[in-house]
Amino acid sequence: MLQLLRTEQISDKINKGESEQKSERWRENKMSKVVVFDHPLIQHKLSIMRDKNTGTKEFRELLSEIAMLMVFEVTRDLETEEIEVETPITTCKCKVLSGKKLGIVPILRAGLGMVDGVINLVPAARVGHIGLYRDPKTLEPVEYYCKLPEDSENRELLILDPMLATGGSASAAINFIKQRGCHHMRLVNLIAAPEGIKRIQQDHPDVDIYVAALDDHLNDHGYIVPGLGDAGDRLFGTK
Ligand code: PRP
Ligand code: URA
Repeated sequence: MLQLLRTEQISDKINKGESEQKSERWRENKMSKVVVFDHPLIQHKLSIMRDKNTGTKEFRELLSEIAMLMVFEVTRDLETEEIEVETPITTCKCKVLSGKKLGIVPILRAGLGMVDGVINLVPAARVGHIGLYRDPKTLEPVEYYCKLPEDSENRELLILDPMLATGGSASAAINFIKQRGCHHMRLVNLIAAPEGIKRIQQDHPDVDIYVAALDDHLNDHGYIVPGLGDAGDRLFGTK
């Protein structure tokens, strides 16, 4: 159902063009896990999203559906405990979730398109929001909005953003969230570029990354190739 890429395989893809020596150092570093989902339903839906002729309504619905399918696997290793349940027939031991509660944090704007899908499967999850823009002079990411659930530092947070391009936005968002005392996170993206994966693994080796597709590269404008274009614009019909 899912493809767990060994870090070496990911490293080979993201280090193409770099010296062997640098690649060797990269391999020695502790890195986060990268999981690429190859489920046929996810791939089918993603192919429709990539099509430039797919309109806003369908794009929005598909993003939500894929987010729901992804979170099913992203949460596969959540802790459970046994409880006793009385069925109409007898009593039995059953499993329920235990351990850290979940929180979800979409990165504004496009991350919003993944919230409904995740909430469908994890209705008790609290939702925070984080928004960033890039300062036109310094090019540094600036946080313009952040509201996290009160007890976020005790939760396992799923950071949602369809696109991981340079990784600048996600890395900064994770930094801002860590500054608030939260250290248990997973990053969930629809499409990632090797450059973005590398950036997160370098900046946040403690954050595992889950993607529906690992694309080829970034173009000169920082767009993922082949990608799907501007996710925020396609989601909200702005442009
Ligand atoms: C997009 C996307 C990511 C970011 C990825 O958002 O949703 O947040 O770009 O690029 P990066 O990895 O190079 O940082 P954008 O900044 O366009 O904002 P939007 O969601 O409001 O459209
Ligand atoms: N942001 C997007 O929305 N799409 C890309 O391809 C890169 C960044």
